[in-house]
Formats: sequence, structure tokens, C-alpha cells
Amino acid sequence: MTPTPSLIKLPPQPGPIGVFDSGYGGLTILGSLLEQLPGYDYLYLGDNARAPYGSRSFDLVYRFTLQAVGELFARGCHLVILACNTASAKALRSIQQRDLARIDPARRVLGVIRPTVEALPAITRGGHIGILGTPGTVASGSYQMELAKIDPGFTVTARACPMWVPLVENREADGAGADYFVDKYISALMSADPAIDTIVLGCTHYPLLLPKIQQYTPEGVRLLTQGPLVAASLADYLRRHPEMDARITRGSTLRCLTTEDPSRFADMASLFLGRPVDASRVTLA
Ligand code: DGL
Repeated sequence: MTPTPSLIKLPPQPGPIGVFDSGYGGLTILGSLLEQLPGYDYLYLGDNARAPYGSRSFDLVYRFTLQAVGELFARGCHLVILACNTASAKALRSIQQRDLARIDPARRVLGVIRPTVEALPAITRGGHIGILGTPGTVASGSYQMELAKIDPGFTVTARACPMWVPLVENREADGAGADYFVDKYISALMSADPAIDTIVLGCTHYPLLLPKIQQYTPEGVRLLTQGPLVAASLADYLRRHPEMDARITRGSTLRCLTTEDPSRFADMASLFLGRPVDASRVTLA
């Protein structure tokens, strides 16, 4: 029997890759995606009105992140990258395990912690890993848990750096305040485990402090930034999942949405992405 037209299931319309962050920080991850996977279309969403997420409760980060993912899905994204460590730490697992089945089992949400952690066995020399992140990311224990799955022999020491995000956002990454707080947090981490050989910069803002972080990190200790790792992992994911790859449009475009003032977003984007962008306002609920 021929189905009536209303029952014919159309193939899903392809859409851009959705990239979500609490605010501007995810633009450092987006920069690597644009560099390493330039052919796709991207739709970035920054929840600037409710950022920072770093000191918010699990429940709020989960609710806000789920709203953002819903918005990106509604705008045609089949694949969303949570380009925010705090959201990846506090919301990703619940969304993957609970919400996707209900919303649309064919869509995917990926985070930034797993791709970072997967790179470590090839990089660490002695298995002593330091993690720096927001209070929320560190308290979640997500890095520690993911690392234990990869190699239970790793010694993992994590410390929160609550002052680094405000320093970057207030354009003080080159100032004397940055010297003080970078020295303070790196020293605290290294005194907790002097054998640390690799430090993960587990927050989207930290690449902007890299020159200072390098200055205060003992020689021989490797510093890991996430953007290139996330981009390489996404390229690999799309190679292994041609059905998802076929659902992404290729036009090399970038559109940005913010829950705050679009002109401020456009201005700050120059700092985080190295170039200005156009942004429009969106309300999440
Ligand atoms: N994007 C967040 C992260 O990577 C940092 C900013 C915030 O606290 O919202 O954890």
C-alpha cells in the first residue's frame, strides 16, 4: 500500500554543527574547529546572560545546557559540541543518557573532556597529571573519572583557578594581577604533586593566559590546550560516522547567537577568536 503523503518520513534536513558555551570561552575551541575543519557550517551559542557557569550548581548548569542544546536542535543542528568544560562536566552525561532518547535518538551531543583525556597516554611521561579548571569542573571529578577509565595507574591532581576567567574577561591577562594568580595556582598544583609532568588547561579561557602560565610552569612540564584535541577528535568522529557527516551542511559559514548584548559579544569575540563576528540575540527558556 502506498503511504498517504502525511505519513511519508522525509530524510532530516542537514544543518550546521552547533557549538555551545556558557559565554565567550568556547570561541577558543571554535577557533580550532574552523582551522582544522573549515568546510562545515557552524552555529555558536553563548549563554552570556547567565555566565559564568563555573561556580553554579549541577542542577542549574544541567538545565541551562539542556535549554541551549534544545535551541541548537530547533535551529537545525544534528550535532552539538559542548565547548565548555563546566557544561561537559556537569550536564553532558545526563543529556546523553537521559534526554537524547526522548528528544531525538539520532542527534548527538559531544563534550570536550573525553577528547582531552584520550590524548594523555601518548603525552605523559610519568603518568602524573595536573588538571586546572573552574571550581565546578574540578568539584565534579569528571576529569579524574575519565582518566581513571583510561589508565587507573595515573596520579591525578586537580585544582580550581577561580580568578583566571575574570582576569581574561576583564582583559587583564597581561597584567600584574595575572602574574600573581597564575603563579599562585600553578605553585599550589605543583606543590601538591611535584612529580606532575603534564598539566591540562581544562577551561576554555585558559589559552588566553598561556604566555603567563608558561612563565610560571616548571621547565619540562607539558601544558595541554584543548582546541586542537577537540578538533582532531571531531574529525575522527565524523570519519567514523558518515551518517552524521551527511547531516552537516558545508558552506564554511559561522553564525553566532548570544543571550546577552550582541554588540558586546561581537567585540569580545575579537579577543577570543582573533576576529570580529556578527551575533544576534536569542532567549533561552
Ligand atoms: N567555559 C567555561 C569552562 O570551560 C568557563 C567560563 C565559565 O565559568 O562559564 O569551564
